[in-house]
Amino acid sequence: MRFTVAIDGPAAAGKGTISRGVAARFGFAHLDTGLLYRATGRRALIAAGAADAVGEVEAIAAAKALTEADLARDDLRTAEAGAAASRVAAIPAVRAALLDWQRGFARREGGAVLDGRDIGTVICPDADVKLFVTASDAVRAQRRYEELHLAGHDVTYEDVAAQLAERDARDAARDAAPMIAAADALQLDTTSLTAAEALDCAIAHIEAKLSKT
Ligand code: CDP
Ligand code: CDP
Repeated sequence: MRFTVAIDGPAAAGKGTISRGVAARFGFAHLDTGLLYRATGRRALIAAGAADAVGEVEAIAAAKALTEADLARDDLRTAEAGAAASRVAAIPAVRAALLDWQRGFARREGGAVLDGRDIGTVICPDADVKLFVTASDAVRAQRRYEELHLAGHDVTYEDVAAQLAERDARDAARDAAPMIAAADALQLDTTSLTAAEALDCAIAHIEAKLSKT
């Protein structure tokens, strides 16, 4: 059985939480595509030596050389890796280098759920289910702040809010695969939902689609 779920939306909207829950509920494989860009950004930073020196050449080479081991690193969740991800993600050749692998993952036997920014629009335009997950700016910043704080990072709410706003603006404004809801995506605003309630909405929507296939 092949069944693809595409989940997009801005930072800290709850995409990953829903994706992991959907994968567990239906036995689908899950790919957090943000990790591809975070790992590429991190590799490019190391190759260039300094954030402001990262150029297209380093970023494209980093995307082409990406390995599964790069995606398993636990330092990819930092704000620095997020900012580097958002910069390299605007380079068309970087996105092109990561495309086939994502599409292959989406078509795997047994079902797949992918979350990111362009899954429903570019990577899997024919996905069986598309969700665009959102939440207010303040709620998203609070969620990410709490996550980073709990993980021991020394951050302030104001810094986290500013970093998310900058990243979202860049992701939405870029020419290459901008963050935008697919016309046929279900919009899920999680501002006043618990993580469990948001997951229940997603599961109900997927079950309805699965029963028709
Ligand atoms: O993947 P994305 O960046 O969109 O967000 P996430 O990492 O799944 O979620 C960010 C944080 O918000 C996590 O700590 C969740 O537990 C929390 N959260 C949520 O995902 N959904 C809600 N409705 C409420 C809280
Ligand atoms: O977890 P969070 O939503 O904060 O970020 P992420 O999903 O790990 O993505 C990090 C960055 O990678 C985003 O800000 C985008 O610039 C980029 N990205 C992208 O361009 N396309 C994707 N499919 C996924 C991530």
